[in-house]
Amino acid sequence: MNTMTPAELTDDVVKAFGATPDPRLRELITALVRHLHAFAVQTRLTPEEWMAGLQFLTATGQKCDARRQEFVLLSDVLGLSSLVDVINAAGGATESTVLGPFYVAGAPARAMGEHIGRPEDGSPTLVRGRVTDVAGQPLDGATVDVWQSNDSGLYDTQDPGQPPFNLRGVFVTGPDGRFEFRTARPASYPIPTDGPVGDLLRATGRSRWRAAHIHAIVSAPGHRSVTTHIFDADNPYLDRDAVFGVKDSLVRPFRPAGPDDPADVSYVVDMDFALASP
Ligand SMILES: [Fe+2]
Repeated sequence: MNTMTPAELTDDVVKAFGATPDPRLRELITALVRHLHAFAVQTRLTPEEWMAGLQFLTATGQKCDARRQEFVLLSDVLGLSSLVDVINAAGGATESTVLGPFYVAGAPARAMGEHIGRPEDGSPTLVRGRVTDVAGQPLDGATVDVWQSNDSGLYDTQDPGQPPFNLRGVFVTGPDGRFEFRTARPASYPIPTDGPVGDLLRATGRSRWRAAHIHAIVSAPGHRSVTTHIFDADNPYLDRDAVFGVKDSLVRPFRPAGPDDPADVSYVVDMDFALASP
């Protein structure tokens, strides 16, 4: 009797999924099996390495809770999150980038112009712009859901000194599509390294720093939502972001406020968002 070859085994597994009724699920699982098997063959994966991999994924899952998403972080540092963004980019729309692990649904609705944080969170900054369609027409009733770290690089969910939903807020545009809010100028921050993803970065000599940014999910009825960032043009980590999230079109100057700007802010950031049709 002949010994089974890796290729025969791979074909057997693919065949076992051949009756999957949903064609997309069949395509995904078949490609997953083929690539996973090819990885094991190419690297001559040992039983110890296979088990170490399973233990790593187990630890990644165990690190997750309602406020910590270690799998998102793993996807981010592997560049998979950014790859999915690039593959699914909608022409003419604001480019998307990673969601990151710190999004919390249910941030409070805030009045236009309101400060999403506290004075002690950092240099007061006005962020303003318009939400439009790809033709530049303003979108009424668009939602701008923003969240960010303070000037110590910490999100509310990481910092017992911040109240819940600090530096988070949801703004809804009127017929002119305009939004504006006050916030703190965010700082660069290291991604969390107290979990398995941190072990991975240490073992591979990778940088753990993210370029300073403000997160936004922008949505409007009848349009494709975009999950994106506003990056600070002065930041030293723009070209070596730990999660490969920086896109040139998302980088904006944090311009020092001038005499024509509101007196209570030190910086002004202009950022428009364009949403594609579905
Ligand atoms: Fe972030």
